[in-house]
Amino acid sequence: MTDLELPDYRHQSDTVRDRFERLKQRPVTMEVKNLTKEFSTRTGSVTALKDINLTIHKREFVCVIGPSGCGKSTLIRILAGLESATSGQVLLNGKEVTKPGPERGMVFQGYTLFPWLTVKENIMFGLIESGQDRGSAEADARQWIDLIGLARFENHYPNQLSGGMKQRVAIARALANQPKILLMDEPFGALDAQTRAKMQAYLMEIWKNIDITIFFITHDLDEAVYLADRILVLKAHPGEVQEIVEVPVPQPRHPGQFLSPEFLATKRHIEQLIHPPAAHGDDDDDKLNMVRMVNVNDDVGSVF
Ligand SMILES: Nc1ncnc2c1ncn2[C@@H]1O[C@H](COP(=O)(O)OP(=O)(O)O)[C@@H](O)[C@H]1O
Ligand SMILES: [Mg+2]
Repeated sequence: MTDLELPDYRHQSDTVRDRFERLKQRPVTMEVKNLTKEFSTRTGSVTALKDINLTIHKREFVCVIGPSGCGKSTLIRILAGLESATSGQVLLNGKEVTKPGPERGMVFQGYTLFPWLTVKENIMFGLIESGQDRGSAEADARQWIDLIGLARFENHYPNQLSGGMKQRVAIARALANQPKILLMDEPFGALDAQTRAKMQAYLMEIWKNIDITIFFITHDLDEAVYLADRILVLKAHPGEVQEIVEVPVPQPRHPGQFLSPEFLATKRHIEQLIHPPAAHGDDDDDKLNMVRMVNVNDDVGSVF
């Protein structure tokens, strides 16, 4: 990025400041307290995460960014209950997380759909597992399929879908269980730039219309600034909180904001945190080509 005259990323307009004030008044969905994770390896112990503290409020969108190996996936696996912390705690709605549970939905980068099940059956799977009868699971699955715009594909198998479609199904499958929080580990990392931009717009639409809190790992700065209310910046060895940045870009977001002074200022600041010497801009993906893909009518009130 060139030496533009950008505002201080900490400067917030009245509207943005008010929104953050309101956000902090909302109930706490997830709390991470003094979380440390050590792995023992043949060569000794590795501290993957050190003393992480974070409070996530209801319907907040938190992104995590940091260099490779800084512990992002380890952190999300602990939040999911797939891995245990060495010390510290994770609370979900005040209750300690010790194992995976239906109140946490997961979406990863790799396509994790069951290849032998159709789109509809993939979405029904978790519902039936949690005790729902087939008929009502099927009805629910259909609603989700409509929501993600894949009605024509409900009887297709994953290998008949594009990468973006598979991730839409993965998101629908996670949301169908009505989790309190959606945990996403680089979910769009394998998609081409254009599909990725569509998926970002699509996820924003869902988030605006459904009562869901989102914790989203990415290594793409544009993606983090575009999606997040706040960005947790981690540093490596050991993985520690470097800063939690309140994104000063007004909500609701739209693609025109990619070049706004607040957007660029935030991006430049995080770039400098992550790559201190000779920071350089990300590749110039075509992120402006956003398409609104869903129109959710479910009126659960506004997140803004
Ligand atoms: N099961 C494991 N055993 C030993 N070390 C691990 C294990 N999982 C992750 N690590 C180490 O923990 C650190 C963080 O890894 P990870 O959470 O995958 O980082 P990120 O997702 O940010 O790239 C790395 O140094 C990695 O090698
Ligand atoms: Mg990772």
